[in-house]
Amino acid sequence: VSQQTNWVPTSVDLEKPSAARIYDYVLGGNHNFAVDRGLADRLLQMQPELRHTAITNRAFLRRAVLFMLENGIRQFLDLGSGIPTVGNVHEIAQQTDPEARVVYVDYEHVAVAHSQLLLDGNPRAAMVQADITRPKGVLGHTDTQRILDFSQPIGLLAVTIGHYIRPDQDPNAVFAAYRDALAPGSFLALTHVTYDFQILKTDAVDEVTQNSQNDIVPRTKAEISEFFGDFELVEPGLATPSTWRPETDDLNALDSEKDVMYAGVARKG
Ligand SMILES: C[S@@+](CC[C@H](N)C(=O)[O-])C[C@H]1O[C@@H](n2cnc3c(N)ncnc32)[C@H](O)[C@@H]1O
Repeated sequence: VSQQTNWVPTSVDLEKPSAARIYDYVLGGNHNFAVDRGLADRLLQMQPELRHTAITNRAFLRRAVLFMLENGIRQFLDLGSGIPTVGNVHEIAQQTDPEARVVYVDYEHVAVAHSQLLLDGNPRAAMVQADITRPKGVLGHTDTQRILDFSQPIGLLAVTIGHYIRPDQDPNAVFAAYRDALAPGSFLALTHVTYDFQILKTDAVDEVTQNSQNDIVPRTKAEISEFFGDFELVEPGLATPSTWRPETDDLNALDSEKDVMYAGVARKG
């Protein structure tokens, strides 16, 4: 890193790339370091579809949040929210309703520092620094409890996060703990990488797992479906980021053969 700026916290690990900063770089953001760009460039060579993946994932997040807003949701819990970029959840939500409330959760220092700067002075949104695989810490956090009302429906966002949960961290139990904390009428939106479409390359997955702070665990449709528990998938069911309720003029939907993730939204009955 040639230049330290005020968004770089002293505790950040500058030696090892992080998923948060790689994703920021692929989306065209500035909150990443040379190590992140190096790994991201290698990844994009191995798997050029990753740029499409990042862009369509972010667009899915936006459509999922708007869908939830249309269905009355006014509070959101965003797991693995990442480095703020175009279209953050509180911006989308508070445009519809200035009273909407959002809790962001991430453990990556740059994501946390930059989110805290952005949210400074916003009483209805907070950044919680926590490991999402420990739901008790997230759900019981003072900021979560202060901002979210668990007696009312919540929009739970697990967008590009499930595949960072290793099998030994028991992803089914992690998702169940969050689902159980929600009131009826709540929604869960998630995206998750998979080998099912035979696009994702094992080399690219291994590259991230071996050389970054995050492991990637692709899963099958059946495994990913389990994360929704008994929530009911809304139409069109478990699709992909570019094919889940695309906007009519969305050119990325034409490139859906590049998708490496499942995407879906489900409702708690
Ligand atoms: C690819 S980014 C996704 C950002 C955003 N959700 C989106 O889809 O646009 C994934 C984020 O998950 C975070 N993350 C991964 N594992 C995590 C964990 N166990 N606890 C908290 N955050 C985690 C990473 O730090 C990163 O910021």
